Amino acid sequence: MCGIVAYIGHKEAYPIIIKGLKRLEYRGYDSAGIALLNDGSLNVYKKQGKVANLEEYSSDKDRGGHSGIGHTRWATHGEPNDINAHPHLSEDEDLAIIHNGIIENYDSIKKELLSKGYTFKSDTDTEVLCYLINDIRKNTGTKLGEAVRLALQQVIGAYAIVVISKSEPDKIIAARKSSPLVVGIGHEGDFYLASDATPIVEYTKRVVYMNDEEIAVLRAGEEMKLYGIDDVEKTPYVQELELHLEALEKGGYDHFMLKEIHEQPRSIEDCFRGRMNAEKGWVSLGGIKEYEQKMVNANRIIMIACGTSWHACLVGEYLFEDLARINVEVEYASEFRYRNPIITENDVVIAVSQSGETADTLAALELAKSKGATILGICNVVGSSISRITDAGSYTHAGPEIGVASTKAFTAQVTVLTLMALSLAKRKGTISESEFRTKLSELEAIPQKVQQILEKNDKIKYIAAQYQNASNALYLGRGSSFPVALEGALKLKEISYIHAEGYPAAEMKHGPIALIDEEMPVFVIATKGTSYEKVVSNIQEVKARKGKIIAIVTEGDVQVTAIADHVIEIPEVDEHLVPLLATIPFQLLSYHIAVMRKCNVDQPRNLAKSVTVE
Ligand code: AGP
Ligand code: GLU
Repeated sequence: MCGIVAYIGHKEAYPIIIKGLKRLEYRGYDSAGIALLNDGSLNVYKKQGKVANLEEYSSDKDRGGHSGIGHTRWATHGEPNDINAHPHLSEDEDLAIIHNGIIENYDSIKKELLSKGYTFKSDTDTEVLCYLINDIRKNTGTKLGEAVRLALQQVIGAYAIVVISKSEPDKIIAARKSSPLVVGIGHEGDFYLASDATPIVEYTKRVVYMNDEEIAVLRAGEEMKLYGIDDVEKTPYVQELELHLEALEKGGYDHFMLKEIHEQPRSIEDCFRGRMNAEKGWVSLGGIKEYEQKMVNANRIIMIACGTSWHACLVGEYLFEDLARINVEVEYASEFRYRNPIITENDVVIAVSQSGETADTLAALELAKSKGATILGICNVVGSSISRITDAGSYTHAGPEIGVASTKAFTAQVTVLTLMALSLAKRKGTISESEFRTKLSELEAIPQKVQQILEKNDKIKYIAAQYQNASNALYLGRGSSFPVALEGALKLKEISYIHAEGYPAAEMKHGPIALIDEEMPVFVIATKGTSYEKVVSNIQEVKARKGKIIAIVTEGDVQVTAIADHVIEIPEVDEHLVPLLATIPFQLLSYHIAVMRKCNVDQPRNLAKSVTVE
């Protein structure tokens, strides 16, 4: 995602936009840019890096004007650099656009525009949209608003866009679909636009939250005009903002971590959008498609990562081996890099990393590369070091993850690994067509099942309160739920500072059971599946020693519900997809316990969001 700010009115636009971009910097900070209309000129300044870079760069330039647009980028198409930074200009430099989202069919539109003789400056999907709007405006002789409407009818994907034009300087055009956009109604006939209300609330509390496929035409001193993409005029619904500024930066949540936990229905959908189609039965991970056969033929696939990303790799191992029958090894990057591992050119190494900057993972990857292995990446940050050194990869598109404790990045990583496993399984024929389609349908339904679990927040918060003073905790799971147990334990210890360990449920008898007493909460994933009865036995063993059982069960469960101290029900789902759901209650449990213990949830002691040192 990114941050969008725009203004049109009688005030100077620059200070309003810059201040607003700083408030939205949490939404993305790969680059920042601004376009200002002033006395017939359209002045565009844009720089890689944070808003402060843009301020410094533009400090000696013309920053005047009463109409302007600004953007902080979270790159999805094209490296974070000055050229790919927004705003983007039309080929005749009359139009300037800023965009939040992904134009999925940008490639086909770009090819058509190239055939008309256009040449592009950037690698972004956004510049393609800008050229399309201007091409339509020139060829149909329509005004800007109509050209935007006609262009968006050709677009597939997500967008929040704001467009200004040198030749039509009296207006700002805005439109949205799937990405957020708020219009602030100023008190003196002026208008503010932003990705959320944060940059607006200090000027006005009267806002219009734009809906999907709506287009707004804003002229200073006139009423706001609102149209559907079908050209039907609509009446803007003006609301009074009640939230205070601080809360807005977190979208109304108390912490970024809670916001990111609740973003998961959207981030998982953003992750698989355009990469699979359950109805037509296809998976297409464009970034690694040409390497799929290499993965199928590989001696083995080695997955390397750290922390939460390492847990995602463990889930991937279960999926790749069970579905695609491919031999997978999962390695801590820090161990792999110093172990003098045996690596050959027949190996494929996949690095999984939210930041794409983790020093150990980067070094392990470089070692694998030096020994001739094919190296692939699964990262969340576009243009990160790992994404730049790998032969290919897939971005998780989870959007910026600000909370140090990883949540939405984990489920996005597991989503990509699930798509990879399914794609490889189909290519190898180790899965039937009907099974393949069924799993895709199940994956498509995950976002709303995650939402159903998030709606149990109050019950989960109540359970958290019972264990907020625990000194230790055990997390148990079998099969692909074992990595989820590890992840749950990591979440608890890293934000609440309670000592917690994850184990394969069967392993408990080989030592940890000695720890069980009435003071020990044991969190168990006991969902319906091949090892359900075995997990029930493990629960009985804990109960026999007065341990407290908090079980994650499949909706409608009776057997575990009868013996556990607490149960959290999750919707029925294909066993291979349980990790995507079972992790949600553990995220919320850890969050609430940490808050009750007055810990710094977003910036836990001793931790950093990206460990760029050994
Ligand atoms: C997860 O909650 C932690 N913040 C940490 O373990 C993290 O997963 C690890 O440092 C790896 O980071 P990366 O995914 O950016 O490589
Ligand atoms: N897809 C556009 C780009 O990569 C916009 C990304 C964003 O939402 O920041 O530049």
